[in-house]
Amino acid sequence: MSKQPIGIFDSGVGGTSIWKELHLLLPHEHTIYLADSKNAPYGYRSKQEITELSIKNTELLLKKGCKIIVVACNTATTNAIKTLRANFPVPFIGIEPAIKPAALNTQTKAVGILATKGTLSSELFHQTTDLYSSGIKVIEQVGDGLVELIESGDIGSETLKALLKSYLQPMITANIDYLVLGCTHYPYLMPLLLELLPKHIKIIDSGLAVAKQTKAILEQHGLLNKALVIPKNEFYTNADPKIMTDLLGNGFQAEQLEF
Ligand code: DGL
Repeated sequence: MSKQPIGIFDSGVGGTSIWKELHLLLPHEHTIYLADSKNAPYGYRSKQEITELSIKNTELLLKKGCKIIVVACNTATTNAIKTLRANFPVPFIGIEPAIKPAALNTQTKAVGILATKGTLSSELFHQTTDLYSSGIKVIEQVGDGLVELIESGDIGSETLKALLKSYLQPMITANIDYLVLGCTHYPYLMPLLLELLPKHIKIIDSGLAVAKQTKAILEQHGLLNKALVIPKNEFYTNADPKIMTDLLGNGFQAEQLEF
């Protein structure tokens, strides 16, 4: 079982930001990535729809023999991971907005969080936020339109920059010193974020934490691939594969698959 691949899914191409961290930390693991771009964005869908799509993605990854599933999507994690864990016999790793480190470290007592509507309206997000944010102002912002632009291959246009600026300005005005990226598509906006945010604002992205947690859970279950092989990394999308291939870089190729 330890030689089986790690399965990763997202509503689209954003979760490749998590895959990159995973691949760096666990370079000998085989991986299979699913981008459900045909159904993106998940962020405006109901909890039930997000759960059904997450089940569909999980079933395909399990059919392909995956030993563990990384839900590389905050929206799917916050809405569906409980159901996934209750219904499938493999370990699941999720990603949630990293409100805790921001809330524990803020000096200005104001933190910003940029995420999808589905994440910000989820019960899990509210539970975590309530737990850590006492005495702290949490400025929540839905990143309307950002996922759509990134899915279309745009990570740097003037339109995108203007949109992002309009989301960041109220947070800057509220004197945040931490910005939490609550969507796996957003790490691709890092160059723009660094340009638009004052230097003292720290950006929290959970990609590395997810990779470390995946490694720890694989170890705990005796599932870490100890063979020093050149891994097979497969990337499937149910939309145009060129956009994912471009985001992956380094010669990795995405393939189109109906699912
Ligand atoms: N990458 C997903 C996330 O982390 C994007 C959600 C969407 O499709 O709206 O939330």
